[in-house]
Amino acid sequence: MKTIVLNTLGEEVLEQIRTLIPQKDGDVEIIDTSDMKIAHCMGCNQCWLKTPGICAIKDDYEDILKKLIQAENLWIVSDTHFGFLSHKGKRLMDRIMPMLNMTLGFRDGWMRHELRYHALNIGLLYKGAAEQSMMEDWCKRTAANIGGHSIGAIALKETPDRIQNPHLTTLNSQLSHLVIINGSPRVEKFSNTDKIIHSFTKGLEKAGITWELHNLSNRNEWNAAREAFLTHERTLIAFPLYVECVPGLMLEFLETLPVERTQKGEISFLLHGGMDEGNEYRLCERFLKELPAQLGCSYGGSLIHGGSFLIRTSKPDMAAKMVAPYAKMGRLFAQKGNFLTPKVAKFTGPEQYPWIVRKLISLAFLAKINKGFEEFAQGWGCTRPLDDKPF
Ligand SMILES: Cc1cc2nc3c(=O)[nH]c(=O)nc-3n(C[C@H](O)[C@H](O)[C@H](O)COP(=O)(O)O)c2cc1C
Repeated sequence: MKTIVLNTLGEEVLEQIRTLIPQKDGDVEIIDTSDMKIAHCMGCNQCWLKTPGICAIKDDYEDILKKLIQAENLWIVSDTHFGFLSHKGKRLMDRIMPMLNMTLGFRDGWMRHELRYHALNIGLLYKGAAEQSMMEDWCKRTAANIGGHSIGAIALKETPDRIQNPHLTTLNSQLSHLVIINGSPRVEKFSNTDKIIHSFTKGLEKAGITWELHNLSNRNEWNAAREAFLTHERTLIAFPLYVECVPGLMLEFLETLPVERTQKGEISFLLHGGMDEGNEYRLCERFLKELPAQLGCSYGGSLIHGGSFLIRTSKPDMAAKMVAPYAKMGRLFAQKGNFLTPKVAKFTGPEQYPWIVRKLISLAFLAKINKGFEEFAQGWGCTRPLDDKPF
């Protein structure tokens, strides 16, 4: 049973790692990633649709991936920020996508991507202030995505208790201008978030609200995004769910923001993702509820909706239909200035499909959706089967 430990924290925690994950017959390999060249997943989907199983980014992660394919357990050793993994820890999980296939199926009652190789158990050694139950839940959910189970979330020594910042009162001023940040790592042109934002802003415009957009996928826009966030009252961060929480790239941006600000601010979130059911988004929502207070802002609520996966692979008229409901939400946001209304909660849809609906989806739609992925891949010049195992 091979165990891989990806240590983002270097020498300082090596002794603790060795104590917590004892070596048995040399079956534990600790890899120091602190000086490695590892980029964020950029959501290009090439590992699913163009070169199945092979990541387009050529950096130190490819060797790690080859080792993970031989392993049963993966431990991530990471710092925390805002009560969750730092971007350095999170990106190690975001990059694991080539171990899954694009094709979808139901596993343990939930819609999941099929495994390209085998199940992987996930554990976390974390340093810094975070809620234990949050870290445990993330491990459980992440492991389930890759067919395995959680092998534990353990706080490293000298981890302080989490300080809960006081939540500030929601703004009651009229909304006139909205700063929108697209937190997707995928380039603007291909980003589903971008299409959702543009539908949402139609609703804002109808109500006479002005807006500006900054894309985190382009690092050249980070300074302007930071400046806009610090100098305007209201910010909306729209982003896709990435491995059960915020994309690593967006975490990196958030880590660059000052924790205090001189003027009032409020952050609202628009969270979407591939999977349909509301339950998929609750762990991330928990993170979002705590985040604004740690940046000196109040929380303006989260608009959550799944099923965005297919926007990119759909024909333009179909894609337009998929994002059209967001325009209504834009109008609602324009009136209230936040997402703290029951209509927003309803927009999420069912928490979990009843078994009969799951059965119907399996029988009636999944084969068609998976076929659609194959056709899309052919359009990209993919010459291998989508479940290819290149390593
Ligand atoms: C690395 C990665 C991780 C993802 N993790 C999840 C996930 O945990 N749950 C989910 O529902 N969708 C997940 N998705 C799907 C995206 O949320 C979805 O495709 C979204 O529409 C992408 O938006 P974008 O094009 O703006 O990046 C993931 C996608 C990527 C690339």
